[in-house]
Amino acid sequence: MPDFVPVGIVGVGTCLPERVVTNKELETMIETTDEWIVNRTGIRERRIARSEEATSDLAVQAARRALTSAGVEPDEVDLIIVATATPDHVFPATASLVQDQLGCSKAGAFDLSAGCTGFMYALVSGSTFVSGGNLGTVLVIGAETISKMLNWKDRSTCILFGDGAGAVVLREVPRSTGLLASYLGSDGSGGPLLQVPAGGSRMPNCHQTLDASLHCLHMNGREVYRFAVRVMGDAALDVVKRAGLNKEDIDLFIPHQANIRIIEAAAKRLGLSMDKVLVNVDRYGNTSSASVPIALDEALRSGRIKSGNNVVMVGFGAGLSWGAVVMKWQ
Ligand code: COA
Repeated sequence: MPDFVPVGIVGVGTCLPERVVTNKELETMIETTDEWIVNRTGIRERRIARSEEATSDLAVQAARRALTSAGVEPDEVDLIIVATATPDHVFPATASLVQDQLGCSKAGAFDLSAGCTGFMYALVSGSTFVSGGNLGTVLVIGAETISKMLNWKDRSTCILFGDGAGAVVLREVPRSTGLLASYLGSDGSGGPLLQVPAGGSRMPNCHQTLDASLHCLHMNGREVYRFAVRVMGDAALDVVKRAGLNKEDIDLFIPHQANIRIIEAAAKRLGLSMDKVLVNVDRYGNTSSASVPIALDEALRSGRIKSGNNVVMVGFGAGLSWGAVVMKWQ
């Protein structure tokens, strides 16, 4: 077996826009009720970016906090990966803008697109650079201003999402800790179930696409729900097995925060009581690729992760895509 460098998360940071939009406020904008939203999704409020605030602005703030918490200087960063479905521009990459803003003069930078699973893909990708011994310090960011891609007249989608960013710093950690196992999945046949139809090379934006709101997020909620319930539990079980653990060994489960019913179904599948599950969907809604690092930060700050704990993180989303990791906290 070739030797590898054990890699783990040595710093975490987040950024959430100040503006809170409650379900009550949504009641004034669309035909909905606080009761419907809470019962069907568990969401009570979400954060929405200001009109002049772009994804890189949130990413930079989250990254600065992650670097500070890791005690890492910007010029020590070798690579920046930004997972986002809502980049500042088609190009240049949001990661390049972040690299400049942070002053990471020695870092390479690229964006990664895997819908709401983006952070999981970026975490696994970034880890391989460190574990292979090629790079020492990788900054992985999940950042979104998904509010800018929502059709605020479509009550079946606009109530679900929120903006935010979360960042982690990856470095070598003591042996037998850090990333124990990972699993990434994709089923592109489900692409049309969750997409922004226009604005790419298949359907460039024009007056007609704008009039039909095809530049906004479109979703078949019921089908995505069914997919999510299935893959969340399966991916978690798979990755736990790959790590040589049992589901009883899971100390904390950090799922993608899309819907409380999806999270509860996955917890049931894993036989986990809800006190082992991190839930903050009520306060932030679905922040897409930012949701897992935001939840991770909350878990660390509230003391829910202790040294030696096995933490399972799972994401799912557009693609369709899904991914999971197990980390033993150092
Ligand atoms: N307020 C009030 N009523 C609403 C509503 C809202 N915000 N949104 C939809 N409805 C209505 C529908 O129009 C429908 O009415 P009808 O029966 O008269 O046609 C009714 O509520 C039920 O709609 P349905 O889509 O069956 O509801 P649901 O129980 O499936 O819940 C979602 C809808 C979107 C909450 C649910 O499907 C879901 O969470 N899917 C997964 C979405 C997701 O996680 N996406 C991101 C993946 S990363």
